[in-house]
Amino acid sequence: MSNAPEDIFKNVISHAKEYGFVFPSSEIYDGLSAVYDYGQNGVELKNNIKTYWWKAMVQMNENIVGLDSAIFMHPMIWKASGHVDGFSDPMIDNKDSQKRYRADQLLEDKIAAYDQEGKTDLAELLQSEMDAALKNEDLPRLRELIIEYEITDPIGGSKNWTEVRQFNLMFSTQMGAIAGEADVVYLRPETAQGIFVNYLNVQKSGRMKIPFGIAQIGKAFRNEVIARQFIIRMREFEQMEMQYFVRPGTQLEWFEKWKETRLKWHLALGTAPEKYRYHEHTKLAHYADAAFDIEFEFPFGFKEVEGIHSRTDFDLSQHQKFSNKKMQYFDPELGPDGKPYGNYIPYVIETSIGLDRMFLLTMINAYEEEDLSTEERQDSRTVLHLHPCLAPVKAAIFPLTKKDGLPEKAREIMDALKVDFNLQYEEKDTIGRRYRRQDAIGTPFCITVDHQTLEDDTVTIRYRDTMQQERVKAADLQKIIGDLVSWKNLLG
Ligand code: GAP
Repeated sequence: MSNAPEDIFKNVISHAKEYGFVFPSSEIYDGLSAVYDYGQNGVELKNNIKTYWWKAMVQMNENIVGLDSAIFMHPMIWKASGHVDGFSDPMIDNKDSQKRYRADQLLEDKIAAYDQEGKTDLAELLQSEMDAALKNEDLPRLRELIIEYEITDPIGGSKNWTEVRQFNLMFSTQMGAIAGEADVVYLRPETAQGIFVNYLNVQKSGRMKIPFGIAQIGKAFRNEVIARQFIIRMREFEQMEMQYFVRPGTQLEWFEKWKETRLKWHLALGTAPEKYRYHEHTKLAHYADAAFDIEFEFPFGFKEVEGIHSRTDFDLSQHQKFSNKKMQYFDPELGPDGKPYGNYIPYVIETSIGLDRMFLLTMINAYEEEDLSTEERQDSRTVLHLHPCLAPVKAAIFPLTKKDGLPEKAREIMDALKVDFNLQYEEKDTIGRRYRRQDAIGTPFCITVDHQTLEDDTVTIRYRDTMQQERVKAADLQKIIGDLVSWKNLLG
């Protein structure tokens, strides 16, 4: 057992595969880079994280409603949003290794290396030169910097670089039978635009009054060139986004509120607060007037999990311009001058969390290699201390032996409970081994049916974290488990 962060991370990745949480996609064909599949336990955990988010955002807020917009959208949407022209990374190829890199990332790595070597002057100089080149979108200058600072290919060490080119991150495909320019459609790189283009449909059909929000969970696709760190940077991933439409001038108040609310959502799961931090964007996108990330300390350092952005009226105004359809909202409330606020394009606060990053964070937080050795014997277990609301399996039911009518009794108990809870039935191996297997997938409760059960209808319930057991009436299990996995524990 090792507690080094890089070892823990490796162990979490192999645990995720061994116990049916995450598999590399298309594995029998050697995988597909930066694409992953969620296994039998992974899909349950993922669904539970989605439910937690959906309940916190939609069910608990009367003025926030859901949406499920299509992945394919009119190509003009991506022109209006700026993604066709601006959603790109500056890329450079090495002619010898034929590998492609993000030019700014190569420079960032060099800056980090200078910092580590104590050459802070050089680090600062290169940083400011790079910032200027990026700001002016000066691609030839980025290449010059790579040559001047003698940056070599991290793989082969060659300095034989191509020009720097912009590489759009959107995947495109063709719609309809005849291939051609006009038929190009994109796989959405964010779910947010589906919300913007539907905001008036939802507002009118739901008679929503400002402030109100629209929430959506769905797939997004980005042709990431640097895909690394397992499910942190994927080419197909899921986002949980909410756009909150507010009266212009009030956006920064709402921004503060959502910034706090979203961090509370994370902390309610019991994570140590020092594992989280806010990161303020100092270089704001041209349409934003405030932006913060919520970062989590992964074993490889702090990394963004969620962004909270004040996006002004940029997106709605752009869609009004490109579609020629009015995107205004009529606000009947009276302003300080006694007159209705009238027509305006709302301002938007966005909260955008990556579901896969949240999944990884949850696995890493929960994972423990616990030493249970006593003076008499060595022992250990790997346990996922998942919050009971998020655990893939809520309880496992074990007959003590495979005979004497115990399996039938255990099945009877299971049948009464399975409509409410995701359960597993196991009768193979010793009880100890069965406990360990359930610990490894984070099952909070194990219920054992023994000979006493046949006499007095009681069972033992064993708690994952404390490993304590108690004898309870089988008839009380519904309430005991129900209370322990109730969403009230997180949202109440
Ligand atoms: N609508 C705003 C938006 O998409 P973003 O910062 O590009 O903002 C939001 O993405 C979140 O989506 C990030 O905080 C991250 O958790 C997740 N995310 C972004 N790119 C990702 C990728 N390639 N793989 C996995 N998650 C990603």
